[in-house]
Amino acid sequence: MENGRPLIVLGRRVSLGIILESDATFLFKVINDPEVHRYLSNPGRMFYEYEELDWIRNLGKREVDSRHFAIMENNSQKIVGVIGVREINFSNGSGVLGYFLEKDSWGKGYASEAISLASDFCFGTLNLRKLTSAVFEPNTASKKALIKNGFRECGRYRKHSFVRGHGFVDDVLFEKLNEQ
Ligand SMILES: CC(C)(COP(=O)(O)OP(=O)(O)OC[C@H]1O[C@@H](n2cnc3c(N)ncnc32)[C@H](O)[C@@H]1OP(=O)(O)O)[C@@H](O)C(=O)NCCC(=O)NCCS
Repeated sequence: MENGRPLIVLGRRVSLGIILESDATFLFKVINDPEVHRYLSNPGRMFYEYEELDWIRNLGKREVDSRHFAIMENNSQKIVGVIGVREINFSNGSGVLGYFLEKDSWGKGYASEAISLASDFCFGTLNLRKLTSAVFEPNTASKKALIKNGFRECGRYRKHSFVRGHGFVDDVLFEKLNEQ
């Protein structure tokens, strides 16, 4: 527990904690940053404050097929991003990984560590067998963070998504099997 927030997975520089209602302001600011949103689905979509609060308030119900975490910076004990596994299918043992960080926290290795922590949780606690993730081709940092964590490219949808500044780009599909 850090400042009233239970931490679920502890890491070296970041940890994964429970998302609190007080994180709504952070989410509202970061998810509406065009640079953060550029490589997420529905670019150009605006997110409203009440939606963030609703989303947080419904996370408990969503646990039926998803888990979402606040990515917490250990030094500052501040939230720097969100990582989640959604579309969990317990009979297949599969789930889809997604994440984003506030811009000020990019390039510090935080996504790489958060993906490692979330993968450990999915394989070690949820007993999932396989994780997948889809990344737009120009999103080099995201692809590298997945590859560093043992994800492998397993296919692509060619020229599938429109990304501002790049036109239509491939959706690169990644997968990681729990092979321990
Ligand atoms: C993608 C994102 C999560 C990466 O987070 P991050 O904490 O900056 O990533 P890391 O610091 O762990 O870096 C991962 C790798 O990418 C490299 N990298 C970081 N920024 C980069 C950039 N702009 N261009 C190229 N490589 C980059 C790092 O050097 C590192 O590789 P290395 O270990 O070989 O040095 C972050 O940029 C983000 O939130 N983007 C917007 C939302 C998004 O794209 N989410 C993912 C959708 S699939």
